[in-house]
Amino acid sequence: MTAAVRPPYRVGIVGCGAISRNHLEAFAALPEAVVVAVCDVDADRARSTAERWGIEHAYGSVEELLAAGVDVVSVCTPHPTHEAVVLASAAAGAHVLCEKPIATDLAAAERMVAACDAAGVRLGVLFQRRFWPAAQRLRAAVDDGTLGRPILGHASVLLHREPEYFSSAAWRGTWASDGGGVLMTQAIHYIDLLQWLMGEAVEVHGHIGTFRHAIEVEDSATAVLKFASGAMATLSASTAASPSLGISIRITGETGATAELSEFPEGTDGRVTIWARGGAIESEQVHPADVDPNVDLAAINGQLIPHHTAQVRDFVSALSANDGTGREPAITGSDATAALRILLAVYESSRTGSPVRLNQTATQEALA
Ligand SMILES: NC(=O)c1ccc[n+]([C@@H]2O[C@H](COP(=O)([O-])OP(=O)(O)OC[C@H]3O[C@@H](n4cnc5c(N)ncnc54)[C@H](O)[C@@H]3O)[C@@H](O)[C@H]2O)c1
Repeated sequence: MTAAVRPPYRVGIVGCGAISRNHLEAFAALPEAVVVAVCDVDADRARSTAERWGIEHAYGSVEELLAAGVDVVSVCTPHPTHEAVVLASAAAGAHVLCEKPIATDLAAAERMVAACDAAGVRLGVLFQRRFWPAAQRLRAAVDDGTLGRPILGHASVLLHREPEYFSSAAWRGTWASDGGGVLMTQAIHYIDLLQWLMGEAVEVHGHIGTFRHAIEVEDSATAVLKFASGAMATLSASTAASPSLGISIRITGETGATAELSEFPEGTDGRVTIWARGGAIESEQVHPADVDPNVDLAAINGQLIPHHTAQVRDFVSALSANDGTGREPAITGSDATAALRILLAVYESSRTGSPVRLNQTATQEALA
């Protein structure tokens, strides 16, 4: 049973750092929601955010924000803090939209999903790239048989980060406070796209390394993934590329057709840059010469606002369906847990040197 609330929803935003702007812009675009409170452990930051956006309340803790009475909480804090904020929000009966990654360990992610279920509140997790029109087109091509069931996939995530990226926020670049490197922070979006297009992953073999950045977590990773359907995919990801080549995701379906989705420069809308089907190849240039390949973080985040808005709109409309048909948001806590499970398996595989079987529902026939 899901908690029934009615629009306009009272929204609280927890964490007033870089990505909070995307949430503030997204909710501002929706008549069904109004941001009534923000909070940050840096109370001055909460206050200045509230002033800038004309928000009624600014607090220094999530407890104060929840006591003000909110229907929805957006979680925009560093990775390991997500769990405490989600658990407190669920206990207060608020629906939660949490930034990725859902958590940095599986047990925490599972506790978050279970707590929201038990409290009857919805849990959504941001993977806004699923809302690119081009990503939706690829997914439709899987579903309508143009690609058909995927058999091969590849995600190439070749990004550029300056050293200041890691020094600008104290939590970045360490196992304890970031939970991982390029996999946890950037590539998780594309791991999610792979699983959304290709289905449930059942086995992962991977490696991580740190080559260019002075950080303890990985700046580069590779992995081979096997899916319950028998499909296979490879992943390579790095924040050490200079210049960045952006992201490309290629899917070959059982029809033999292949489609490629490209994001270049990082943060811009994904485009379908290759369609190989029916004896013809349609392609579009992925890396035009007049584009600056190394985009700064504020520009990347700014370009993502329309897709954050699309996901926030979906989340809010899922709540509106509560008292009638009721529905889950497009991207649930369980979806985000599955993406986390894949990337944690890359870490484990890299540590042990062995493939990691994911505890899922694949049959031996499917894996054969
Ligand atoms: N979806 C995307 O594309 C995308 C893009 C960027 C960041 N993110 C995610 O958003 C989250 C935040 O990233 P960011 O870049 O905005 O970080 P940031 O460091 O700029 O901001 C985090 C803010 O949270 C505050 N904070 C820390 N602990 C808190 C707590 N317990 N309660 C309240 N406030 C707290 C900090 O003081 C800071 O102001 C991360 O999970 C990150 O991965 C997602």
